[in-house]
Amino acid sequence: MTRYGLIGYPLTHSFSQRYFTEKFIRENIADCRYDLFELPDIHELPNLFNLPGLRGLNVTIPHKQAVLPYLTRLDTSAEKIGAVNVIKFEADGSRTGYNSDYYGFRQSLADWLVALGRTAEGLQALVLGTGGASKAVTVALTDTGITYKYVSRTKTESTFAYEDLQDVIIDYQLIINCSPIGTYPHTDAAPAIPYPLLTDKHLLYDLVYNPAETKFMQLGHERGASTQNGLRMLELQADKAWDIWQQ
Ligand SMILES: NC(=O)c1ccc[n+]([C@@H]2O[C@H](COP(=O)([O-])OP(=O)(O)OC[C@H]3O[C@@H](n4cnc5c(N)ncnc54)[C@H](OP(=O)(O)O)[C@@H]3O)[C@@H](O)[C@H]2O)c1
Repeated sequence: MTRYGLIGYPLTHSFSQRYFTEKFIRENIADCRYDLFELPDIHELPNLFNLPGLRGLNVTIPHKQAVLPYLTRLDTSAEKIGAVNVIKFEADGSRTGYNSDYYGFRQSLADWLVALGRTAEGLQALVLGTGGASKAVTVALTDTGITYKYVSRTKTESTFAYEDLQDVIIDYQLIINCSPIGTYPHTDAAPAIPYPLLTDKHLLYDLVYNPAETKFMQLGHERGASTQNGLRMLELQADKAWDIWQQ
């Protein structure tokens, strides 16, 4: 039996467990299972290392950074981001950390731009929120050649505050919501950007995927902007995790 799973705390619902369990059935992948391992404390992680057949783990909140000391090495993007959401257990007992959110975002953005007939050239981005997901997004933007500015509720020298956007939003055509605002059940909430100034040149990418059309997307749509939710990123990051485990 080859085993995979998700560590985090708390683990109430899991996209990954459903996704992989359905994949095993759909693709006739025999003798595999994907389990949830609730770990309130990351110090308990080594207890899992001796689980027979364990080949890979996904890592979610609150352990994406805390897991780093338990790994033997990091892949380049995980090292640049400073967070890991995929662990591969190698045959020699070592453990490599990856960040598949990076790959999921980068690939989904590239596909979306192609579908819209747009290119990354000259595009400038606003990244709303400065949490863990935004780190994977900004490293992917840099590697794609897109310059960006963070937007935060806490203004610093290197970030815009939401109140600053009035003057600059016209120059930033790609706007990525990396905050949880608008997630079910708070579906009437949207990041505080000046929506009336959006145009049909703007691209609004929401990492939130539930609901499928967030208020952020809806308000952008009303101004003629193109919009995308986080579902494709989520699927692509899961596919990437699978590829990493099978390499
Ligand atoms: N689609 C995918 O594959 C995928 C992958 C990863 C994450 N996500 C989603 O991305 C979102 C962010 O994830 P995360 O782990 O980075 O979350 P997080 O660390 O909890 O929050 C991200 C940032 O959002 C801002 N924020 C939080 N509460 C806010 C509020 N009430 N009003 C305005 N801004 C607020 C904060 O930045 P400031 O304090 O600087 O304002 C915070 O650092 C979540 O909804 C998550 O589900 C999706």
